[in-house]
Amino acid sequence: MFILNAWYVCAWPDEITSDAILARTICSQPIVFYRDAGGEVAALEDRCCHRQMPLSLGWLEGDTVRCGYHGLRFDAAGKCVEIPGQENIPPRVKVRTYPVVEKYGAVWVWPGEAEADPALIPERFAPQDHPDWSFSGGTTFVECNYQLISDNLLDLTHENYIHRTSLGNQAVVEYPITTKGGDDWVTVQRLIPDHDPAPFWKAALAEAKGLEDVRCDRWQVIHFQPPANVVLEVGVAPAGTGGMEGERSHGVEGRNTNMITPETETTTHYFWGFARNFSRDPKLDPVFSQKVADIFEEDKAAVEAVQRVMDANRDRPVIDINADAGHVLARRMVQRLVAGESDMPAAAE
Ligand code: FES
Ligand SMILES: [Fe+2]
Repeated sequence: MFILNAWYVCAWPDEITSDAILARTICSQPIVFYRDAGGEVAALEDRCCHRQMPLSLGWLEGDTVRCGYHGLRFDAAGKCVEIPGQENIPPRVKVRTYPVVEKYGAVWVWPGEAEADPALIPERFAPQDHPDWSFSGGTTFVECNYQLISDNLLDLTHENYIHRTSLGNQAVVEYPITTKGGDDWVTVQRLIPDHDPAPFWKAALAEAKGLEDVRCDRWQVIHFQPPANVVLEVGVAPAGTGGMEGERSHGVEGRNTNMITPETETTTHYFWGFARNFSRDPKLDPVFSQKVADIFEEDKAAVEAVQRVMDANRDRPVIDINADAGHVLARRMVQRLVAGESDMPAAAE
């Protein structure tokens, strides 16, 4: 049920060290992560090829992992480098490794068998690690299928209900959305002209541009790329300065980044962050990430509740409304890619 030939964020860079093994399941595949002495990340299947002991119950010895059962030792390439009490190490004594790369301020792993090209990591995440932007992020573990989270982000009408006490904004339901889709992307856009900005944006404009009490144009552009990468381009500019047409330089901009990684069919590692080109004092980083974390707790409560009801009502249909256009397109895309993988000769064996 997952697209396996894709990059998924598995951790933030500081979660993986050379002191201890990090065990994390990605797309139902248990993996151990650690750093070698040169700082490179290793990703090995969390299964010793001898008697299937999880390697995460072993420990690191230099750049190698020692299995905690009978002591076989494996290097970062998965090759066995020691069998206690045995001279000869047959080449088949090895564990699977996964392609892993650090890019855009996150660590990405590729759980599939096809060739893993780092250029396939969506460039929209670049503001997470870019001199023009400040960024802070976090992780929320969510007990639901990963697609419920991308559905949620592709339909922001929920802001007015789930986030009625935090973000709620009647404008998000009053102004229409436009939805566009290509082969591997969906964009949902909502433009809100000439209005009094919400407190968050009012403060940002005052701080960054010295603008007090101005009416604003606001944009919310949601970009989806499979499997479940969602970047929200958000911001405001003084009304009539081109914000409606894509001219953003007179205003303040943020990017809410969402890297949604399935752990299992019903649990998800949800990595998220907020990049901003205003209020760039690093002391404010935790303030911004805490705001996002608080809001996502509301989303988490909602999607986990939906998952529980879905589990109790297998095979019962749901209905779609106009606001669902974006995630209906996104789900079709994911379904097509999953089906494409199961048609591949290697995967069909
Ligand atoms: S199971 Fe790992 S060494 Fe035996
Ligand atoms: Fe939300």
